[in-house]
Amino acid sequence: MDRYAVMGNPVAHSKSPLIHRLFAQQTGQMLGYEAILVAADDFENAVTRFQQAGGKGLNITVPFKQQAWQLAATHSDRAQRASAVNTLLLQADGRHIGDNTDGAGLVRDLTHNQGVNLTGKRVLLVGAGGAARGVIEPLLGERPALLVIANRTADKAIQLARRFCDLGHTEGCGLDATAGQSFDVIINATAASLNGQVPALPNDVITPASWCYDMMYANRPTAFMEWAQQRGAGHCVDGLGMLVEQAAESFLLWRDIRPQTAAVIAALRQPA
Ligand code: ATR
Repeated sequence: MDRYAVMGNPVAHSKSPLIHRLFAQQTGQMLGYEAILVAADDFENAVTRFQQAGGKGLNITVPFKQQAWQLAATHSDRAQRASAVNTLLLQADGRHIGDNTDGAGLVRDLTHNQGVNLTGKRVLLVGAGGAARGVIEPLLGERPALLVIANRTADKAIQLARRFCDLGHTEGCGLDATAGQSFDVIINATAASLNGQVPALPNDVITPASWCYDMMYANRPTAFMEWAQQRGAGHCVDGLGMLVEQAAESFLLWRDIRPQTAAVIAALRQPA
């Protein structure tokens, strides 16, 4: 049986094994999928061990996405731009192929599942770390009128915007500098929600028509979603759909078949 896994640290609470088991069932594919906890300094060896034990592909999560990018011998364009890899297609000769399906997962959830048309829209991406970097190219691929990247440390957002400005109208700034501008879509790509915190954005970025999207997910509305609701946002969504959609893109790369995601998202929304 072909083996797949997600590698991360921590990884115990990952929903990826359940998602991929549901995909395998649905598509009638025989495969195994497990979660592997990897020590901070052991990533490359862990990949080699897994491949030698019959591993065909990996999902990579925090904190190894950049190391996976360095390890891959070849990259998809979107992984190359993001300098981060969340999906490895393992090759027997060790020349692994790296892809990044995070941004495609976000865009698919927004456009296909939520029905948000990003073309011509004003989009605010909050955060300038690895999570933000992974989604910029696919977001710009939808041709928004403007993509503003706002970050607590303004300089990082400005540098990131420069890196992608050939792909569309992109600006970088600090959180305060968004005051007086409103946005159709506001995406939280910061790690703030992990600690129940919310990035200090001005209230007026939100209108009743705004879509607010937290790339994090939880069993209850995240702190960012509650913050946005309190300021009158019309629509607030967490990142569960993105998680399932990025997994479907990985499954497609590994198995050459794209699973249906709606039933899997619905199954994951059920209380445990
Ligand atoms: P990841 O790979 O998850 O993006 P990261 O590269 O460490 O993690 O980036 C974390 C991001 O969350 C950064 O944009 C960080 O802002 P700074 O660059 O100013 O550090 C942002 N972040 C984390 N906690 C935050 C908070 N409480 N408020 C606002 N931004 C926060």
